[in-house]
Amino acid sequence: MALDRQLLQSIIKEFTVDAEQLREIAANFRQDLKLGLNDPDDSSLRMLKSYVGLPTGKETGEYLALDFGGTNVRVSRIKLQGSGRFEVTKKVGKPLILPGAYDYVGVGSKANDMFDFLAELIDEAIDKDHDTKFYLGHTFSFPSKQTDLYNASLIIWTKEFATEGVEGKVVNDLLKDALTRRGVNNVEPISVINDTVAVLLSAAYQHADTYIGSIYATGQNNCYLESSVKDPENVGVGGMILNLESGGFSKLTPNRFDIEFDEASEKPGEQRLEKMVSGRYLGVLFGMALSELFGEKGKNYGFTSIDMSSILMDDSVDGDRIAAVIKDKTGKDVDSEEAKKIKELATIIVVRSARIVTATYVGIIWQRTGSGKIQKQQIAVDGSVYEKMPLVKENINRALVELLGDEAEKVTTILDTGGSGLGAAISAAMAANHAVD
Ligand code: BGC
Repeated sequence: MALDRQLLQSIIKEFTVDAEQLREIAANFRQDLKLGLNDPDDSSLRMLKSYVGLPTGKETGEYLALDFGGTNVRVSRIKLQGSGRFEVTKKVGKPLILPGAYDYVGVGSKANDMFDFLAELIDEAIDKDHDTKFYLGHTFSFPSKQTDLYNASLIIWTKEFATEGVEGKVVNDLLKDALTRRGVNNVEPISVINDTVAVLLSAAYQHADTYIGSIYATGQNNCYLESSVKDPENVGVGGMILNLESGGFSKLTPNRFDIEFDEASEKPGEQRLEKMVSGRYLGVLFGMALSELFGEKGKNYGFTSIDMSSILMDDSVDGDRIAAVIKDKTGKDVDSEEAKKIKELATIIVVRSARIVTATYVGIIWQRTGSGKIQKQQIAVDGSVYEKMPLVKENINRALVELLGDEAEKVTTILDTGGSGLGAAISAAMAANHAVD
């Protein structure tokens, strides 16, 4: 089978973000931040208040951390020791979908079943000890409207989650009810934060100069510390962290694959940026483009971002690994020349993702900096795409230099794995101290 070189070139062009477009995305993102600070209704960014600023680093005590936001849910017991030190004393986790056995997030799944499942996992994390008092911090990685650190109601599911009976509800109330149903009355959910906020809290607990938190995984989103937002309910220092829900940023130019995919998605019109960059969707876009190259447009091969990572990791001359992935997913045999072309396609989709995400980082940096000089800082990032996908880190660095020139050396991205759990524990400590104050 010969892949049409011309068609490939035109598809590559459609996925290319050139220097000018990169700058435009960063500028539009900054503009949306400005608009959103004034009135979120004028911006495609939700700019959700988290009611938490940065930790002091002195937070101590043992807390439960529930990390809910992807296909796996985890509960940990974390001892904060102050000065950026901590110890994870227990960790349990389970997938939310076990094919053939259960599915708590697909169409038709119900809130109570899902929260009962979470309560059971929490019970396992505390070794069924129903006497000791535990405060629980909850990292809930979906757009939520908050009125304080506890009260967060889900605005809308993202990442194709569809569990009925959660949208519009205060998530920790649902969790509390489930704990009560299970007879676990000694665990008190006390805070809810987005995973981006958790990553920022976790990184800031351990290092100075961190103001931006980001997740680059199944979903994609950023938060940052905004010094101008003040509220009596806010805990922590330096201002309030805003969860941008940057996956919802819509001032972009989607190509025909993005448009077609959005229309067929669980929530058309929502999460336009996320659908172009995050791990949940990269394999889908790749499969859509490949189906055209294979002359069977519209066929869904079920590629995942893990497949893309395998394709990109194959640096061999004969492209055996690429051929194996393609055979497995499409049933087709490809030779080394075709494997090379397929790798080019995977490359451009991943490079586009990294460039768009970097433009959002720079939009935030520009907004935070105003007319002054860029501060030396690190952007805390967690997530499998950032951590494991070939080409991502180098393209982030390249795009930072393209946008910031010499000042790019002041900005580094750092991996903060485990931030979702640690951040939840830190938020619980901050909420507990606030309650005592
Ligand atoms: C959610 C965000 C979350 C991100 C990363 C998005 O789909 O809307 O709240 O931070 O995924 O998990």
